[in-house]
Amino acid sequence: MATNITWHPSLSRHERNHLRGQRGFTIWLTGLSASGKSTVATALEQHLLHLGLSAYRLDGDNVRFGLNKDLGFSEKDRNENIRRIAEVAKLFADSATIVISSFISPYRADRQMARELHEQANTNSDDPIPFIEVFVDVPLAVAEQRDPKGLYKKARAGEIKDFTGITAPYEEPLDPQIRIRTHELSVEDCVAKITAWLYAQGLLSPTQKAI
Ligand code: ADX
Repeated sequence: MATNITWHPSLSRHERNHLRGQRGFTIWLTGLSASGKSTVATALEQHLLHLGLSAYRLDGDNVRFGLNKDLGFSEKDRNENIRRIAEVAKLFADSATIVISSFISPYRADRQMARELHEQANTNSDDPIPFIEVFVDVPLAVAEQRDPKGLYKKARAGEIKDFTGITAPYEEPLDPQIRIRTHELSVEDCVAKITAWLYAQGLLSPTQKAI
C-alpha cells in the first residue's frame, strides 16, 4: 500500500509553480520567415536551461512535422496551426514550463486568440498565464536576402504560393512587449534583451530562478 500520498481535489497552477520552483509562461516569437526566430528561440531555450529552468521550444521542426503535419499554408490552415500551438503552449505553461513558441503567426487575430487563451486560463482563482509577444522585426529585404532555404527565391518565381511577405500577408504586431531586430543585434544581445525584460517584470528572479 502506498503511503504518504496526499490527494488534492484540485491542484492549482499557483501550487504547481510553487512546487516546481518556477513560473510557467509563454514567450511568443512572431516574424517573417528567415527573420531569426528559430536562432533566437534556440539560444534563449539553451540559456534558460543553463539557469536551471525548465524551458521548451515549440517550432516548425517539432510541431509541423508531427501534431500539425496535416496543415499547409492557406489562411485557414495557418489559423488552425496557431490555434493548436496556442493550446499546447498553454498546457506546457500551465505545467510550470517556460514555452518559447517560434512561428511566423502572421495574423493579428490568431496571436490575440493565443494571448486570450493564456490570459483566460484562470481557473481555481489562479492568475492568468503570462503571454509575452516578441516581434522579431527585420525588413522583408533582409529576410529575403538571407533566404537560407531558398524559399523567397522560389516564391518570387511563383513556385510556392501563399508565401508570407510575398504573396501572403504578415500583419506586424502593433504593441509587442519586446521588439528585437536580429539584423542589428547579435543573438546573445537578443537573448539578453528578452531576459532583461523578464527580470524587470518579475517573471525571472535576480537569483536567476523563475518565481
Ligand atoms: S505560420 O504562418 O503557420 O505561422 P510556420 O511558422 O508554422 O508558419 O511555418 C513557416 C515555415 O514554413 C517557414 O519558415 C518556411 O520554412 C516554411 N514555409 C513553407 N511554405 C511556406 C509559405 N507558403 N509561407 C511561409 N512559410 C512557408
